[in-house]
Amino acid sequence: MIREQFERPQHILSASQFGRPFLDYMYELINTIRKYDKSKDGLVYLQNLLGHRRAMLYFTQPSTRTFLSFQSACGILGIKAAEIRDPSTSSERKGESVEDSLRTFASYVDLIIMRSPVAGLCDRIARLLDETPRPVPIINAGSGPDEHPTQALLDIYTLQRSFKAADGVEGKTICMVGDLKRGRTVRSLSRLLTNYPGVRLLFASPPEYRIENDLRSFLLDQGVPFEETTNFRDAIAAADAIYMTRVQDEYDVAAESKKVDSSAFKLKFEHLASLKKDCSIMHPLPRRDELDPAIDKDPRANYWRQERNGMWTRVALITILLGVDHNIVLPTL
Ligand code: CP
Repeated sequence: MIREQFERPQHILSASQFGRPFLDYMYELINTIRKYDKSKDGLVYLQNLLGHRRAMLYFTQPSTRTFLSFQSACGILGIKAAEIRDPSTSSERKGESVEDSLRTFASYVDLIIMRSPVAGLCDRIARLLDETPRPVPIINAGSGPDEHPTQALLDIYTLQRSFKAADGVEGKTICMVGDLKRGRTVRSLSRLLTNYPGVRLLFASPPEYRIENDLRSFLLDQGVPFEETTNFRDAIAAADAIYMTRVQDEYDVAAESKKVDSSAFKLKFEHLASLKKDCSIMHPLPRRDELDPAIDKDPRANYWRQERNGMWTRVALITILLGVDHNIVLPTL
């Protein structure tokens, strides 16, 4: 196990709070946790780590894999998890503010995992709870078009595992494709990738879906080489990893996505021949027609592994937040 050289997070709110020492520690921690999954004794050990703790899953924006992987991660660690997925079933229906709702959860649980359509809400709640006698950790499981830090952390883990060489992600060309303007996974992952020297980013999208200015400025400030292009074919051929994303039309105000031609930004079976032989094909999922299901059987397709990596990444993150990661040491088995 590598020695930790980072400030331990109180919350997980943004990809920008993590540096390379944390990412390297997390990678080793996840790999170690996965070894416990190989035996019943290992799984029972994990189950006993946090059997005395409770969590709240507050997901007021649709989710399949983030919700289920966090719920499963809680189960793996023995945490009892309660959930609200529809605020109309809570006292918000009676006019309770979201702040009071979250403060109420903090009265009953030791960890709040929340997804919201509102950018910045998680930060606001974390600051609010930090000033109360029960400042429970908050995990941002997706905040509007803004951030999805745990997705970015699992993406980094997946990239690191895909690139077998010792330098891993360093020096690689990563191509992000699709709705880069409103895709929170792209925003969070791009920020994390600035921790790896030599990384080059290619952003392939229709002009309407180019990255936002804040990300562009951040990459310029960090000195990370990047290119914005409409040439999908050349971009994917140059990439060591391709990160496909869907159109985020849930953020449309007046069905504007229908006016954007995204047809040239779909990865099809016929493109496979032009990709590098070890290219890692990723997608945060869910997908639509931007990623051809005929690609699923190609050994370079990593998105189903990526999804499962999410559960183990979230197990690791919860152990860090609740202070039991130091109990993850294989020789104790
Ligand atoms: N990747 C992701 O966030 O998927 P869900 O919306 O299904 O949670």
